[in-house]
Amino acid sequence: MALYPFITLLVLLSSVPPNDDVFLSFRDKDSSGSFAGHLYKALIRAGIHTFKYDKGIRRGENMTLAVGRALNKSKISMIVFSENYASSTRCLNELVTIMERRRTSGLVAIPIFYKVDPAEVEDRTKRYGEAFAKHEERFKEQVYRVKQWRAALKEATSLAGMVLHDRSETEFIQMVVKKVEKRLNSTLPKVLPAQSVPSYWPINLRNLAYHPFSVARELKY
Ligand SMILES: *[C@@H]1O[C@H](CO)[C@@H](O)[C@H](O)[C@H]1NC(C)=O
Ligand SMILES: *[C@@H]1O[C@H](CO)[C@@H](O)[C@H](O)[C@H]1NC(C)=O
Ligand SMILES: *[C@@H]1O[C@H](CO)[C@@H](O)[C@H](O)[C@H]1NC(C)=O
Repeated sequence: MALYPFITLLVLLSSVPPNDDVFLSFRDKDSSGSFAGHLYKALIRAGIHTFKYDKGIRRGENMTLAVGRALNKSKISMIVFSENYASSTRCLNELVTIMERRRTSGLVAIPIFYKVDPAEVEDRTKRYGEAFAKHEERFKEQVYRVKQWRAALKEATSLAGMVLHDRSETEFIQMVVKKVEKRLNSTLPKVLPAQSVPSYWPINLRNLAYHPFSVARELKY
């Protein structure tokens, strides 16, 4: 009987849409698109709420606003730097917002170097150099934008990141998921040890048991 109010509360809370834990920033128009897809699936499988713009934005929704909202709800952002990341202004704008949130609201940012050398990103050589040469030409009248992108790239590459090297993608994805779990475990208090939450509970409920405070915070709004 004493359990009844508790269960009611759980049912009530489970209907609240969960916050995203992770925001994935990536370029869809190169091989990192399928990598990001696999990473996304692996994170979801591990019970980690993840935002990916091609899944999380409704048709016709303002992208800038939707991305801003998703970032505001995320604890960790992962930036998948791939060959063509810098040729997309959407990606670069996302990166600027991520770095802003990192400074102002403590968002954790983890760069992932997928088939690119971190030095190439940092020094803007090869594809990154070509991309920026094009942006400089195209945004001659809006120099501040290119400057902002350059600064965001510089800041991102100064952070501790993860490099694919010659690992298999599968192995790399496992490493990334582990790292995210570790970060989330260390930033979120837990009330229940893993064993006490039955694995047949829906992910929402399990997550709630692990991360009650993220829901509590959301309920306050
Ligand atoms: C989306 O929202 C931003 C910020 O409010 C605004 O600057 C931009 O013009 C909007 N974009 C579109 C396509 O409506
Ligand atoms: C996200 O948070 C920032 C800073 O707190 C705020 O200025 C912005 O309006 C928020 N964006 C959305 C879409 O909620
Ligand atoms: C994080 O916590 C979950 C749930 O308690 C546990 O299953 C997982 O092994 C932990 N992961 C790491 C990397 O510490």
